[in-house]
Amino acid sequence: MNIQNKNKNTELDVKPVQGAELPIFESIYTPDIKPKEQKIGFILEKNELFFYKKDDSTGKIKAIPVSSRIEIIAKQSDLYSGGNAGLTLRFINMFEREIKWSIPRSSLADDRKIITELCGLGASVYDKPLFNNYLMTANPISDFSCVDSIGWHRYEGRKFFVLPHVTSGNHTDKDKLVYQSNLLSTLFKSKGTTEEWRDHVGKYCGGNSRLIFAVSHGLASMLLEPTGSTNGGINLFGSSSIGKTTIARVCASLFSDPSYLLSCRTTDNALEKTAQSHNDCFLILDEAAQMNPKTMGETAYMLGNGAAKERMKSGGELQEVMKFRLNFMLTGEIPTSQHIQEDKGQRATEGQSIRILDIPAGSNHGVFDTLHGFKTGAEFSKFLVEQSGKYYGTTFLQFIDSMLSIEDLREKLKETKERLINALPEDLRTMEGQADRALDRFTIAAYAGELATQFGLTGWDDGEAVWAAGVCFEAWVITRGGADNQEEKKLLQQVRDFIETHGESRFTDITQSNNNDSKTINRAGFRELKEGEWIYYVLAVGFKEMHKGFTNVMAIKSLVEAGWLQKTRNSLGCNIASKMKKSAKHGSHRVYELNLSMR
Ligand SMILES: Nc1ncnc2c1ncn2[C@@H]1O[C@H](COP(=O)(O)OP(=O)(O)O)[C@@H](O)[C@H]1O
Ligand SMILES: [Mg+2]
Repeated sequence: MNIQNKNKNTELDVKPVQGAELPIFESIYTPDIKPKEQKIGFILEKNELFFYKKDDSTGKIKAIPVSSRIEIIAKQSDLYSGGNAGLTLRFINMFEREIKWSIPRSSLADDRKIITELCGLGASVYDKPLFNNYLMTANPISDFSCVDSIGWHRYEGRKFFVLPHVTSGNHTDKDKLVYQSNLLSTLFKSKGTTEEWRDHVGKYCGGNSRLIFAVSHGLASMLLEPTGSTNGGINLFGSSSIGKTTIARVCASLFSDPSYLLSCRTTDNALEKTAQSHNDCFLILDEAAQMNPKTMGETAYMLGNGAAKERMKSGGELQEVMKFRLNFMLTGEIPTSQHIQEDKGQRATEGQSIRILDIPAGSNHGVFDTLHGFKTGAEFSKFLVEQSGKYYGTTFLQFIDSMLSIEDLREKLKETKERLINALPEDLRTMEGQADRALDRFTIAAYAGELATQFGLTGWDDGEAVWAAGVCFEAWVITRGGADNQEEKKLLQQVRDFIETHGESRFTDITQSNNNDSKTINRAGFRELKEGEWIYYVLAVGFKEMHKGFTNVMAIKSLVEAGWLQKTRNSLGCNIASKMKKSAKHGSHRVYELNLSMR
């Protein structure tokens, strides 16, 4: 389908409906076209929609009020599939605000839904059956395309960023691509201009690593699709009343008013829908401490993966899984990894902790490094909260519009990574595995921040976003205790803890025979003192318990790399980690031989 070729005419032209219960509709008129000959049908007056009908008994024409003036400006079908037909409505509501809403025709089957929503939006419907007929019979000439998710869409080489109220794109036909939904999203509101946001909010983030980084991370949400990046989250954590929520509010003001900030007190089911409604935008969840640890673990996966849980429909078949791409931010008092641990001692997996990067919020004055002349952190926080409540919702749109003209985003992203690495302390410049993946997340934020500065949206100096990302990366590294592979460290610590806890009670001394005095309860294996060192011969069942939460393959790999376990060649010539251990007192067992003093 070619949007560009669609007819520009917005006149409505409805074919007669034969056999309808109501009188035959001859025409529906656009507001400015007065009925000429015909006196039967829907007529949009200045403030109302009327239905003109011939009274059977008197033969006179009478006008029935149907609703407040609600125009149907176009019909639309899905950009990709051509299905999912709908209508675009436009009206001025009781608060004098212009509202455009693209509804799916499928919802006309239950007219209450649409009418309820319209009333909530400040329109009025006086005659429900007639109004439903008005919608049902409309076949406007103007032909739009629609999508069912906000965010980036690509079609025939063209890029669009669709929002509930506006579509960005380098094309004359961008306004003909609309977001179609059962409910009109009021997520994005705006006040003031981008310049005002820059001068009254953005500028004051300058010199503040956490503020700049969080804002940059927020803007990076719109860069995920163009740079082929995956979802990423940060958790700004630290003690109470240091300004974490203040940062969250500043981030919210990039997109909308303070209501954009969400509370963590939400079910995961609701959160999935919320996440989907923020596709390609920034999801901010304040006060993560309120989330129960189990939900926190699931949230980390769900938001990080960008996919909801698989669920069954009532009929037993699998529901289509909700997908979304976004950056997100939590604020909390403790690192996410610690929070997840509170779920009955569950360990945060490396997957989870890389999906939400724990960044200590505390800097110099609470979350702030510099106070821009304010006497205290509290005063500066108050100022930022006030300003971000006055100027909001424009910056992200301008960011998207400006970004559309940049071709080589991926290349520039790579260059930013180099720039960021060079800004790091020397010992952090060579990263491996997880830390390198995390660095990619910091890079994309740094790039978004630098781009926004280049577009004149932030009021920061060139390089400040890279600096802030570097400072926060370093803080992240310190929080997790080193940039090397964290997963492996955790596993080795767990094995050591196991031996220290159970070494004596659950490992039978191989030289001692079992008697009633020294019976090993719940045996995990055997041990033997050799040249002053205990060697542990761990049975398969004990080994499994020892590396609980990790795979066998990973456990063996890490233990071998740590030098605690040696692989041996078996009779078939394979290198294997377990071996047969014979002892005079206990017979033969297949065991893993561990020596923790080796390195
Ligand atoms: N950096 C700071 N230093 C001192 N007090 C602060 C600071 N930031 C915020 N406050 C105080 O804490 C209150 C709560 O701020 P908020 O941003 O919600 O903090 P948090 O989310 O860290 O608890 C503010 O009203 C302010 O009085
Ligand atoms: Mg708070």
